[in-house]
Amino acid sequence: MRNFVQRVYLFVLFFTGAVLFVLILKEGFSYYSLPLAKRFFSPLHNLLKPSGKLGHAYGIIGSLMMIVGVSSYMIRKRVKRFSRLGKLKYWLEFHIFLCTVGPMLVLFHTAFKFNGIVSISFWSMVAVVLSGFVGRFIYVRIPRTIQGQELGMKDLNQRDENYTKLLREKYRVAEKALNKLDTFTRSERFKKVSLGNLPSYLVKDYFEGRKILREIKLSLVVTDYNHKTYREIIKIAKNKIALNRRIGMLETMRQLFRYWHVFHLPFAIIMFLIMFIHVGVTIAFGYRWIF
Ligand code: HEM
Ligand code: HEM
Repeated sequence: MRNFVQRVYLFVLFFTGAVLFVLILKEGFSYYSLPLAKRFFSPLHNLLKPSGKLGHAYGIIGSLMMIVGVSSYMIRKRVKRFSRLGKLKYWLEFHIFLCTVGPMLVLFHTAFKFNGIVSISFWSMVAVVLSGFVGRFIYVRIPRTIQGQELGMKDLNQRDENYTKLLREKYRVAEKALNKLDTFTRSERFKKVSLGNLPSYLVKDYFEGRKILREIKLSLVVTDYNHKTYREIIKIAKNKIALNRRIGMLETMRQLFRYWHVFHLPFAIIMFLIMFIHVGVTIAFGYRWIF
């Protein structure tokens, strides 16, 4: 059920972002695709230029979304008093939503022309968004509690033992298949992983994992499991493989995540600093949107 709620939540966020993008692009495509010199004569110019009614609004709303997206996540993560306010991972998804849709609106605000010092803010924003996707990739590979705290080795090994116990005692999976799975999921396999060979290791490991799953599926065919039980066994085997992959790569991922923070945060700061200067300058020049 929890999984279902999370899926609906993610779908609603993703769908809202995608629909917004398509609508804005559809309405403005004829303007944004014009060469800069011809835009002035377009009937849409007064609406969609960076200081136009809509163009300006995109900048304001997009920037507010990023401010809310960053501050809400940081407050929820750091202030103890709010630690019961929803799971941290939902707040992270919300951060990702606001900080993807916000930059998208800012992109439309610029009307695809990136001049002046504010372009540093724009490109920093692009760097933060792109690095964000890399960060999320690493983040989900570090096992955590529901509240977002990193899990210790003891808990992880306990989980692994529970999976083996389930397969052996509840589902009575054949010893041969269990041995195969056990051999594959031994952490020694990851001893040679380093930051340098991580990408190729991940690809190799993914295909080896699939091969083992295929072998386990074949070994299950011999026994007369019903469809539901068969699917449950495969799900547990998949979870066991994923868990051990995470255990094996934990130190490498933690190290990578520390480096990643050094990248994501400074670009966010540069972006916001120049954005505030930019806003100050535009207000000083008399741009007030609808006010
Ligand atoms: C990270 C956020 C933002 C970025 C990256 C950004 C970027 C830009 C860029 C590239 C331009 C076009 C510059 C040009 O025509 O040469 C522009 C223009 C403008 N921006 Fe922003 N902007 C941001 C946020 C905002 C916000 C929050 C406001 C208002 C409160 C705003 C108000 C304006 C105005 C009024 C113009 C037109 C200035 C003119 O025509 O001289 N921007 N912005
Ligand atoms: C303009 C856009 C963005 C800004 C300004 C921004 C800014 C930030 C900031 C300030 C933090 C907190 C760092 C800390 O706690 O030390 C953070 C964390 C994070 N952001 Fe972003 N972010 C943006 C977009 C994204 C996107 C698009 C993604 C993913 C697709 C993302 C993924 C993450 C992740 C995984 C964390 C780490 C969470 C943690 O360590 O608890 N961010 N971001």
